[in-house]
Amino acid sequence: MISSASPPWPFVPLGDPDIDNLRIVALEGHYLVTDTGRRILDASAGAAVGNIGWGRPEIAEAMSSSLGAAGYVLPPFPSVERERLVERLRANWLPEPLRNVSFMGSGSEAVDSAVRLARQYQVASGQPGRWKVIGRDVSYHGTSLSALAVGGHLARRDAFKPMLMDLPKAPACYCLRCPMGKRRKSCRTECADALEEVILAEGAGSIAACIVEPIVGASGGALVPPDDYLPKIAATCRRYGILLIADEVMTGFGRTGEPFAVNHWGVVPDLLVMGKGLSGGYFPISAVATSAEFCQRLVAGGQRPMYHTYDAHPAGCAAADKVLEIIETEGLLAEVSRLSPVMEQKMQRLSGHPHVAQVRGRGLLYAIEVVRNRATLERYPAAEGVTQRLVKACLQRDCFVYFGGTGEVRDILLLAPHFTITAAELDVIVDTLMAALDEGCGGLEDTRVG
Ligand SMILES: Cc1ncc(COP(=O)(O)O)c(C=O)c1O
Repeated sequence: MISSASPPWPFVPLGDPDIDNLRIVALEGHYLVTDTGRRILDASAGAAVGNIGWGRPEIAEAMSSSLGAAGYVLPPFPSVERERLVERLRANWLPEPLRNVSFMGSGSEAVDSAVRLARQYQVASGQPGRWKVIGRDVSYHGTSLSALAVGGHLARRDAFKPMLMDLPKAPACYCLRCPMGKRRKSCRTECADALEEVILAEGAGSIAACIVEPIVGASGGALVPPDDYLPKIAATCRRYGILLIADEVMTGFGRTGEPFAVNHWGVVPDLLVMGKGLSGGYFPISAVATSAEFCQRLVAGGQRPMYHTYDAHPAGCAAADKVLEIIETEGLLAEVSRLSPVMEQKMQRLSGHPHVAQVRGRGLLYAIEVVRNRATLERYPAAEGVTQRLVKACLQRDCFVYFGGTGEVRDILLLAPHFTITAAELDVIVDTLMAALDEGCGGLEDTRVG
């Protein structure tokens, strides 16, 4: 029974006082400052959202002047801030022919919008039988019912199963535990070929779109595909008249060393979903980009996109515009490329730990996967709560790391520091992880070999 004297937060306690009672009162650079004066190094920039560092006054100033001018504009009306942001995205970030951009509040909303837009496009194209969206078995696309339905996060889907559309899934490229039973040398990206099998089994005429994270973020832990994977997926989609949705909520805006992860492989999706890094955590804003041709088709077919009340909020557009301007003028995209090998080299120290199965990633998005037995890749039982132990052990050492996994895929820690992180801070992160691994895996039944 919750008494009327219950504190204003947490809404539902996580049951861990170290987290339930952590009160962040200030953000400074790469640090979270608590009400007790602790300075916690933010190794994951929140949920892989920050990029330019916390507490930059320019962002508050840009938002303040926006709020003081036209504080709210109904989404269908233009605003100065939105137009400026779209122009910046077109000029410096988006690949051709993605010129048209619509803004929402969260990554989940943007995924939901992309799914609806894909369906509306097929209806407008005289293909009303196409409604299914193929997702992948290890993925995360957000919390809305459509995002859960297209996603492959088993633990988050579980309670909602009867309410979710039953949508087909293709295998994700989880190379450490290859779903096709291959090794790097024998790999012919059969997991990409499997998409075609799914399409044929479902009937191509029933599929509207396929959604992929070009590099799987938290659910699989920075899963970088083989180089021919994404081009193959894109070609298969094109061959069957299926739209490709790239969910770059986590990987967008330089996080992996290119403006978008699709740029690594020269693939241009039909719909590009953005969030997180768009405003670097300063305001909830997300977006979907597509081509002018796509939008003309909607109009010609009598299909209009729907809006949420707070879509394209001028203060959010102002914040995003300023964050992107800072990334551009301070050369932070180049910093990601410069720092990536530094981070990789430091992170590789962890691959020597007897319970680390793999260190992987690209740019400044890295993950470690922890196992009970490195030789067999046997995982710790879920009941051991190894991920939570590790996050907690890091937090107790004043370092925040983000947790990954899907329940079945587990014991993954995600590192996604700000693009301004220093080499010395990267050392602290790796030292902390090493100590946390010793503590978190210590005392558990140990079946490692060698
Ligand atoms: C790849 C991806 N898509 C979608 C989402 C959902 O974004 P949001 O939490 O802003 O709704 C996330 C969140 O982590 C994500 O990583």
